[in-house]
Amino acid sequence: MAARTIYFGRFISAPKPDELLIQTGAVLVSSRDGRGVIEKVDWTVNGPNDALSKFGIEAPVVTAHDNGFFFPGFIDTHIHASQYPNAGIFGKSTLLDWLTTYTFPLESSFGNVKSPMYKNASETPNPLARAKAAYSRVVSRTLAHGTTTASYYATIHVEATNLLADIAFDKGQRAYIGRVCMDRPEMCPDYYRDESTEESITNTKASIEYCKSLDPSGELLAHIVTPRFAPSCLPETLTQLATLAKEEDLRIQTHISENLNEVKLVKELFPDRESYTDVYNHHGLLTPRTILAHAVHISREEMQVIKQRKAKVSHCPASNSALGSGFCPVRVMLDEGIDVGLGTDVSGGYSTSILDAVRNACMVSRHVGFLNGGDSRFNLGITEALWLGTVGGAKVVGLEGRLGGFEQGMLWDVQEVVLGEVKKDGEGDDTDVDIFGWEDWENRVAKWVWNGDDRNVRRVWVGGRMVHERK
Ligand code: GUN
Ligand code: FE
Repeated sequence: MAARTIYFGRFISAPKPDELLIQTGAVLVSSRDGRGVIEKVDWTVNGPNDALSKFGIEAPVVTAHDNGFFFPGFIDTHIHASQYPNAGIFGKSTLLDWLTTYTFPLESSFGNVKSPMYKNASETPNPLARAKAAYSRVVSRTLAHGTTTASYYATIHVEATNLLADIAFDKGQRAYIGRVCMDRPEMCPDYYRDESTEESITNTKASIEYCKSLDPSGELLAHIVTPRFAPSCLPETLTQLATLAKEEDLRIQTHISENLNEVKLVKELFPDRESYTDVYNHHGLLTPRTILAHAVHISREEMQVIKQRKAKVSHCPASNSALGSGFCPVRVMLDEGIDVGLGTDVSGGYSTSILDAVRNACMVSRHVGFLNGGDSRFNLGITEALWLGTVGGAKVVGLEGRLGGFEQGMLWDVQEVVLGEVKKDGEGDDTDVDIFGWEDWENRVAKWVWNGDDRNVRRVWVGGRMVHERK
């Protein structure tokens, strides 16, 4: 027997870049085998009892707060779970020195007692304890921000990567788990790399098998094949990872054209290739299931190739600003018909919040507009940015039509947002979003986008299971 739950209240979503859909009514969610799917919707329902009678069943009714709404769960299409302890720690660095100064030392400490992070440390090295602390926290934190799906990078270590899979699966987040592949000796530190192509493939296979043992269906949890980026991988490894992803029917994730020095490095390392995009294309890594993070410095020709291959782009605006990487031409990519979602890119990005990525996507787009002669056509509005964080993300992870809205057949991956209420005496709630009561719902959503945070996320569900409740 399927378990059924009715959700009643206000439902807001961004089904199209220019459509903020605000509805009230009820949704009937039917859960079978832990998979909660919207069975029916009724936008004429005007109360919990009305819901029961209109659906003609007995079921628990979950009611959204009067001063709030159900909103599709956010999709983080690019986040390094292993880098969460470094969120906010980047100084004035840019990508390549940031990797060697901050990132490789931290990541290596999840599996290597000789990591530079353990030098002079008072603690006895305990890689798995570190991994556990970081991974438990980052999954809880992203859930608290309303992220129901995340595409994670872990580290090169199989044991710690499997631990991330355990934790995400246990806490109930929809998660793709990437064991990071990096084995090009001159580009990776000795203390942090796979020894050979063979080791990259063998260890990736071990992580694939582990993810399959947790969720054979791959619907809630799956491995994602993760060559870190072109410079860090031997060409043979890139080719074999592409073959493996195809054989196993898995997603692929990597970085592309984030930083100008990185683009230059790729030209030097792959002199026979026309462009950064051509490197991935040549090695068979551009597929409809490939997530390319950043894509800041790509030409129109490269966009054409990405479009033809139906590969997806993860836009990481906070990271691109923090590391001074550049201005991602989101409008141009959307106009070219490329599917784009949002990523936090922790810890290139400082925040685990996709709502923060929504804001930053709006901000950066205005700079892009300014650089293009002050043309507001480049500006992303908040509805469009929310659409990128939900529907766009669904396309990027290959779940278009299953995530990002409140239509029949969609998965119940949802956050309940509650805003602050200003009383007559001027007292308010513990949130940055003060609602005076006279704002219409469109303006309330705008206030949420610009000043909201995890205090506004009251409950979160993934596949019908409640995975977070704010105490
Ligand atoms: N390029 C290669 N590795 C990384 C990483 O960890 N973060 C970011 N932002 N870019 C990368
Ligand atoms: Fe990244």
